[in-house]
Amino acid sequence: MSDGLALSVVIPTYKEVLNIPHISKAIADALGDLNYEVIFVDDNSADGSVEAVSKISHQYPVRICVRTEERGLSTAVIHGIEQARGDYVVVMDADLSHPATAINEMLRKLKANEADFVVGSRYVEGGSFDEDWGFFRLLNSKIATWLALPICHVKDPMSGFFGFKRSNMPATHMLSPLGYKIGLEIMVKGRFSAPAEVPIHFVDREHGESKLDFKEQILYLRHLRRLYKFKFPTASEFLQFGLVGGTGFLVDSFFYWALQVFFGLEHTTARMISFWPAVTWNWFWNRTLTFSDRNQSGGKLKQWMGFATSSIFGFIINVGSYHMLTDYVPFFTETPYLALVAGVLLGMGFNFMAARIFVFRKLDEEMEKETERPDSESK
Ligand code: GDD
Ligand code: MN
Repeated sequence: MSDGLALSVVIPTYKEVLNIPHISKAIADALGDLNYEVIFVDDNSADGSVEAVSKISHQYPVRICVRTEERGLSTAVIHGIEQARGDYVVVMDADLSHPATAINEMLRKLKANEADFVVGSRYVEGGSFDEDWGFFRLLNSKIATWLALPICHVKDPMSGFFGFKRSNMPATHMLSPLGYKIGLEIMVKGRFSAPAEVPIHFVDREHGESKLDFKEQILYLRHLRRLYKFKFPTASEFLQFGLVGGTGFLVDSFFYWALQVFFGLEHTTARMISFWPAVTWNWFWNRTLTFSDRNQSGGKLKQWMGFATSSIFGFIINVGSYHMLTDYVPFFTETPYLALVAGVLLGMGFNFMAARIFVFRKLDEEMEKETERPDSESK
């Protein structure tokens, strides 16, 4: 049901009482007689925002919902979209950073099916931002943007100014944004296929400071990891597994060296011992990183033993294939280093499959078991 409303503008607010009348007017001026609504989602700012909205509500189609249970930009935006009744939704900031005039072009693109997701962008031709960004802030923003490119194909994926057709909103239970980047989350999880950008001039807010602190950046990296996993499930697991394996190799080498130099062990003994801290390291990081979303309830020791066992097999495959290739395949006899690489890849491939299938099980497989259990108990 759209109630004949063309557009809902969702604006998350936290202590924005002074900006509320300005942004409301800017939107009204930009949209003219379009049938729209503005929804402020306020996290209990208690600064007079509620009164400010009611004061102008006879003049502009604005309302405010105040959340007291929860706080945070992303969940506020989701909440606002859930309240929205318009055919289309646009999300923007209250602090006048985003020019309301751009909404018209966003809406036009969406209605003409030129795009199914639109972003107000600083980085396309015609877009810009205030010049006084320091070098590091700029570099930071560039790197953050660059990291997101493989999953979203827009030049300004960080933008808090975006719009789409409301019926394309992904189910709320699919969304688990960490931190600020709710636009990116919706764009990726909603599987939008034709995103487009509308150039904007981004104006820095007059007062207050950006929340782009170190904690936010770590959150952003964790958020990206989730989104990559959503978009490329196997590839991202393999990549993380490989990274963990690479650092495990360093652990292995360190112990191999230290045991000989500091404890006078013979090199084959050192080799046999160094395997174990490396395996334990790999197990730990695969458990906490690569397969963090898998079932972990089976007991650590059992999981570690399973991982160590598969690693021993992986190692046998690694060394075994090296011998086979160099003994029987003339090409590898001449280039034994490539046999080593092939062996490492084969061993790692085996380890990866074993880890996925046996050691770190998927949650839903376990859940199937759980749901079978009451039946067997009632017998
Ligand atoms: N309800 C609610 N709850 N609103 C919030 C909260 C919160 O916890 N935190 C911030 N907001 C509101 C602000 O009131 C403002 O309207 C909007 O969210 C953006 O907050 P700012 O503090 O102005 O964010 P920013 O300027 O650092 O970041 C903006 O630009 C980034 C790109 O440079 C946002 O648009 C980001 O989403 C964007 O990534
Ligand atoms: Mn801002």
